[in-house]
Amino acid sequence: MSEKERNVPPQELESQRGYMHLVRQMAAGRKYHVVTLGCQMNVRDSETIAGMLEKMGLQPAERKEDADLVLYNTCCVRENAENRALGNVIWLKELKKQKPELLICVGGCMMQEAGVADRLKANYPFIDLIFGTHNLHRLPELLFRVLSEKQPVVEVADGDGVIAEGLPVRRASRHSAFINVMYGCNNFCSYCIVPYVRGRERSRAMGDVLDEAKGLLDDGVREITLLGQNVNSYQGGGGAFAELLARLDAMGMPRIRFMTSHPKDLSVELIEAFRTLPHLAKQLHLPVQAGSDRILKLMNRGYTRGQYLRLVERLREASPGIGLTTDLIVGFPGETAEEFEETMSLVRQVRFDAAFTFIYSPRPGTRAAGMQDDTPIEEKTRRIERLIQLQGEITAEALKGQVGTVQTVLVEGESTRNPGWISGKTDRGHMVNFPGNTSLAGRMVEVTITSAGRNTLRGSAN
Ligand code: SAH
Ligand code: SF4
Ligand code: F3S
Repeated sequence: MSEKERNVPPQELESQRGYMHLVRQMAAGRKYHVVTLGCQMNVRDSETIAGMLEKMGLQPAERKEDADLVLYNTCCVRENAENRALGNVIWLKELKKQKPELLICVGGCMMQEAGVADRLKANYPFIDLIFGTHNLHRLPELLFRVLSEKQPVVEVADGDGVIAEGLPVRRASRHSAFINVMYGCNNFCSYCIVPYVRGRERSRAMGDVLDEAKGLLDDGVREITLLGQNVNSYQGGGGAFAELLARLDAMGMPRIRFMTSHPKDLSVELIEAFRTLPHLAKQLHLPVQAGSDRILKLMNRGYTRGQYLRLVERLREASPGIGLTTDLIVGFPGETAEEFEETMSLVRQVRFDAAFTFIYSPRPGTRAAGMQDDTPIEEKTRRIERLIQLQGEITAEALKGQVGTVQTVLVEGESTRNPGWISGKTDRGHMVNFPGNTSLAGRMVEVTITSAGRNTLRGSAN
């Protein structure tokens, strides 16, 4: 697809800027609060939403209770994510009783799900605006309609999705930034709803990504995380993504991370990048999902346990000490006790720094939702508890292994746990707390690691 077809046309973006001015005249000075559920994609989308709202004259409110406009950016990857979103929205109905002028807006992945927007519209008439991820850039026009028509507005775009360049953004951190490189997913893992709601894979032009990174670097950003559901597919292949990394590295961006990488097409070039690019953080999130070949096949993951383990070997050969993290699903339909043990043994073998573990959740419209699933939830819960326990031990040991080493920490700000201390992440992604002044925020500091907790490290600045 050409850039022209993929990107939102300039006239449409111009028209939205016009609506921003109109909304500004109607809503300037009002307060907004955005609640973000789901993954980094949504976190980044919420930064755009906040950026647009501020361009329209709204100001941030710390708490929902103080806001005139509350916006939920929803996730639907698992059922509990949806329940959380719904629970939250229903709670707002009460707030609206005390504050009838309150505007309630709901966007995000869940709204892209077939039938959800209509159901919400029918059941929750107190929602003022329902929109999706594919038409995020149209928020100014939609808000204008809400304010002028004074009745609920629902607009969710079908289709494969588009790319909107140059939207305003309010970044959550001054030192560390997310940059989208591609949107959507074509992998159709059998359990996953993301390809249905986020549309087909589409990549941003390399020039646009590089310009954004350069602007951030000039503004003092020290760390970027490149985002995509499958960054290896950037512009159609791992080579292009490795080239993008090399260019960002050459630009002098001090620390570069990316997620997520799919094991089935982790390219040789990308593995080599860990050996050759000094600014690429020695950390990789490489979701494996399961340790059994039969389950991996049913999941449509496109690799075997053996292939995954070989990738791990090659990564560790290219970059000794690289920190690996992963995602794991427990209780996929038909997973036997033995097959679960294969996940346990893979975790023991790889020794991930950390793992996100999930109980399988059937998603409407996916292939796995139609598969026979006889394992009782009690059994699935026992399995996930064992897995969490095992990973917890491995994480603690990995952290202990850091004690006595000197690590470069990018200081984020005051430690949430110990007032008077500051915290930040090492190159490998471990959180470190140490005594220091918040004036160091945004600086790279050499820290000697003195002790390890369950999930974090402690140290002292050199
Ligand atoms: N694109 C990323 C993951 C996006 S979703 C990737 O391929 O790795 C994040 C994680 O949620 C997945 O890695 C998977 O572990 C989990 N997940 C997705 N669908 C799920 C489902 N139906 N039930 C339970 N976990 C799920
Ligand atoms: Fe979902 Fe698989 Fe795509 Fe990840 S790669 S978003 S798990 S379909
Ligand atoms: Fe959820 Fe959408 Fe991310 S479904 S996990 S917020 S892409």
